Amino acid sequence: MGWNSWNHFACKVSDAVVRSTADAMVSSGMKDAGYQYVNIDDCWEGQRDAQGNIQSNGRFPDMAALAAYVHSKGLKLGIYSSPGPKTCAGYEGSFGHEEQDAQTYARWGIDYLKYDWCSATGDEHAAYTKMHDALVRTGRPIVFSLCQYGWQSVWRWGASVGGNLWRTTDDISDSYDRMSVLGFAQNGLERFAGPGHWNDPDMLEVGNGGMKDDEYRTHMGLWCLLAAPLIAGNDLAAMTPATKEILTNPEVLALDQDAAGIQGHRVSEEGPLEVWMKPLADDSKAVGLFNRGTYDAPIAVRFSEIGIDKGATVRDLWARRDVGRFDSAYGAIVPKHGVVLLRLRSASNQ
Ligand code: GLA
Repeated sequence: MGWNSWNHFACKVSDAVVRSTADAMVSSGMKDAGYQYVNIDDCWEGQRDAQGNIQSNGRFPDMAALAAYVHSKGLKLGIYSSPGPKTCAGYEGSFGHEEQDAQTYARWGIDYLKYDWCSATGDEHAAYTKMHDALVRTGRPIVFSLCQYGWQSVWRWGASVGGNLWRTTDDISDSYDRMSVLGFAQNGLERFAGPGHWNDPDMLEVGNGGMKDDEYRTHMGLWCLLAAPLIAGNDLAAMTPATKEILTNPEVLALDQDAAGIQGHRVSEEGPLEVWMKPLADDSKAVGLFNRGTYDAPIAVRFSEIGIDKGATVRDLWARRDVGRFDSAYGAIVPKHGVVLLRLRSASNQ
């Protein structure tokens, strides 16, 4: 769980933005909710010095000092590069300098690397393995995030090249259509994810303004059922109360962070109405009733389709209320583009 500069700031990211984001992560309660990584995306890179060492550009006067600041808040700092000669935004990439760059990141105090693919050529496995091995040789634990847009079924080999997470999709944008096309297409990839190696359907757009709150609850609820990395992408220093509530609801976050680390999947589909389920470590089940249609509609989960045979108690997680005990099914009216997110405890476990 963390934050990344790209979705909101793109190339307007700077030392000041990162510091104020770290401040806001603490003061808003995001840190207490579990968010930890503050990740700089593209556009921090400057030129290499005479020895080939990468330097930050004028927007980042002192990366080591910035890392120290972020660490002083009890947070971690992430950075971005590409195995090609240039990054996606045309800045200096790591091609031919992998070892040196890994050493530089470790010296600065970096804790997370998002490694893109723009301008790279050749064998992806080799390129990612090369940087992973260089990171390991630094002796510093650095999360390794692969970003090659889900090409070549990366979920099948991402863990074997040292990836802790890998993008399964092309870029998200702040629209319901784009978010939902990416998110709902994750079904079937659940067997490739697990603790330490996760499918990444891209960063969150919650709070960036292009979706309604019901749509952002769908985005957040679906990502949590998917056990997806939760990398907020909004301006944390200027969040509305509604955005903060969506990003920090503890019972919703608990689904994502559940110890069993199982990615959820779709259990039924009727036109635009979908039911998804994520098994949880305590044998309860998280269920999402998703309405992808454009009218409010009733959706029900039949307990037999999620492995509950003796009735269950149902809690509505966005409403934060217990809705009662039911014998064989639970249904609700779900707003258009919205979700009713539930946690069900089987009666036989009580
Ligand atoms: C690619 C990635 C994005 C972002 C940009 C930066 O498009 O997929 O997430 O990192 O590059 O240029």
